[in-house]
Amino acid sequence: MANQNIIRFSEEFQEPTDKYIGRMIDFVKKNVKPDDKILIALSGGVDSSTVTTLAHRAVPNKIHPLFIDTGYMRIIGGKKEAEIIAETFKDMPNLEILDKSDYFYERTFGIKDANEKRLAFRKAYDEVLNTEAVKLGCNVHMDGTIKPDIIETVKKVKPQSNVDNVFLFEKKIEPLASLYKFQVRKCAEVLKIPDPYRQPFPGPGLSVRVVGEINPEKLEAERTANAIVEEGVEDLFEKHYGKPFLYDEVLGERIPFQYFAATFDYKRDHNLHDKEREIKKYTESLIGKRVDVDILESKATGVIYEGEESRRVYSPVVALETDEPVDTPLLEHLGNAIPERFGVSRVLHQIKPGFGKYAMSIRNVKSTDAVTAKPLINFPLYLSIASEIQNECHGVGPVFQDITSKPPATIEYE
Ligand code: XMP
Repeated sequence: MANQNIIRFSEEFQEPTDKYIGRMIDFVKKNVKPDDKILIALSGGVDSSTVTTLAHRAVPNKIHPLFIDTGYMRIIGGKKEAEIIAETFKDMPNLEILDKSDYFYERTFGIKDANEKRLAFRKAYDEVLNTEAVKLGCNVHMDGTIKPDIIETVKKVKPQSNVDNVFLFEKKIEPLASLYKFQVRKCAEVLKIPDPYRQPFPGPGLSVRVVGEINPEKLEAERTANAIVEEGVEDLFEKHYGKPFLYDEVLGERIPFQYFAATFDYKRDHNLHDKEREIKKYTESLIGKRVDVDILESKATGVIYEGEESRRVYSPVVALETDEPVDTPLLEHLGNAIPERFGVSRVLHQIKPGFGKYAMSIRNVKSTDAVTAKPLINFPLYLSIASEIQNECHGVGPVFQDITSKPPATIEYE
């Protein structure tokens, strides 16, 4: 039975925020019966932390917050995400932290295709959640699904981890279904949730940042590199602005929106294929410098918006290597022009060469609502991050910066 009974809070967000929170709490109370037991999928993101806190305020005796460690979680500030959750929500009744890493690894390692990997992850997630619901006797499911999650799945850009699942619950309650991210953040701030302006992290976690087949070594390189990029970008902002990120109150925009590492398989083939030759000719004519072009083995996801409709594409990733730095506006132009002319989803620009079986990409984007995004390109600032990645991550060769917007790319790689 797929969610046969989804109850979404449909009132549009209005200030004052505390009044809206009051209405969400009333909505939860109204839709929970005296015998209900609620399983809350707590991932540690702002959305699920907000929904857990709301439910705790509304129906404290009925909640079972569950954090499933999928093995694809991050290291933040030297700590595992599971440890951070345990500390942050230590006073929550019935909090359970479940390590299911091996279960997820068995079901997702070795899958090449991005969509298949996402579906395998979601199936594993559904199975674990259903098993726990039966064990705990929970008949209601509540999660932090927000408006963009629903829109993206309706448009079929990607199968989102938290929409369209196959769960065995009698009903699902989505208190945040009418909110955009910046509105959830306002609520989280009023609810005194730590770090309400933290960057988003996808449900399938690092599995969508290990591009192509996952294996233990590639995953550990990704986990380490991701932490280096997060800390490195925050340090750069701290140095320049005195804080780890900026927040534009008018646009409701966190700057940067998201910053992370992605890991690719890397085999340098020095024979130029036809498409690589064409891209090289085109790029050199624009920048007036020698460029090496390499189409990587793994493909990545992109999106094409056609009016109201959108279409998901799964296409090659182009890596550009130049001997000298290239001006940022030119790179910005290439990041859009190369996909448009040559039908690829992304363009990477080399920060630091290297030998190894993996290549890393630094993805740092500006965005208001994740529907569109612009890359934050900065060759000199990423140099020290690239060196640290090469020193700390086993098997990593070259490090690139991603210079593609959304569209044609997506923010994540798969
Ligand atoms: P894309 O890659 O589609 O991502 O441009 C847009 C935003 O959504 C996040 N994202 C996800 N969040 N489950 C989530 O909860 C998912 O399956 C998922 N996929 C992408 C992504 O990090 C970005 O903020």
